[in-house]
Amino acid sequence: MRYVYSSQQSPAAPATPAPAAAARATSEEFRAALGQLAAGVSLLTVHDPDDDEAAGMTATSFLSVSLEPPMVLVSVRADSRMDELLARAETWAVSLLAEEHRTLASRFAMKGRLSDRLLFADAAWRPGPHSGAPLIDGALATVECRTEQRIAAGDHTLVLGRVLAAEVPAPGGRPLLYLRGGYRQLG
Ligand SMILES: Cc1cc2nc3c(=O)[nH]c(=O)nc-3n(C[C@H](O)[C@H](O)[C@H](O)COP(=O)(O)O)c2cc1C
Repeated sequence: MRYVYSSQQSPAAPATPAPAAAARATSEEFRAALGQLAAGVSLLTVHDPDDDEAAGMTATSFLSVSLEPPMVLVSVRADSRMDELLARAETWAVSLLAEEHRTLASRFAMKGRLSDRLLFADAAWRPGPHSGAPLIDGALATVECRTEQRIAAGDHTLVLGRVLAAEVPAPGGRPLLYLRGGYRQLG
């Protein structure tokens, strides 16, 4: 007797539990799990036409969405000043930060900071030619965008941007990373 089929079968899969409609991770569980995701640190910037001032916010939620047309996404807390500014501004920019931008990153992540104008006065940057938003000197890459769509997602707004320009001003630079609640470097 030959057991042709039994030798080819995979081991029995464990029974799948029935989905629990009310299942929901606590914010501690969520933070602990997502904190394991190593992320590149970016500075999201905008030029506020109303005040004629630059604003910035440290972000790790920046990601690539589409190649054709080129599109990116950033997730911004809905009660933040940056979300309010992005709702008004048509264009914005993202600078992918390098190791030497660690202090800049933590300054632009401070809640209730007094003035982005003072922080930018202390930083080296130039206005993006397509967005007017600050592009940080020494960034690994800079991306200038026009808002294509804003999507409400829980306590955040997903801002989809069409990429107007993308540059690599500092080829070979070393990225600033964020992992398990702290800034990290490669290696
Ligand atoms: C490493 C790091 C990454 C962050 N990423 C985001 C992000 O992707 N989106 C967001 O809304 N806030 C993010 N934050 C928090 C904001 O930087 C911070 O709350 C914000 O600057 C508050 O100021 P605002 O209300 O003036 O924008 C991050 C903070 C840190 C330290």
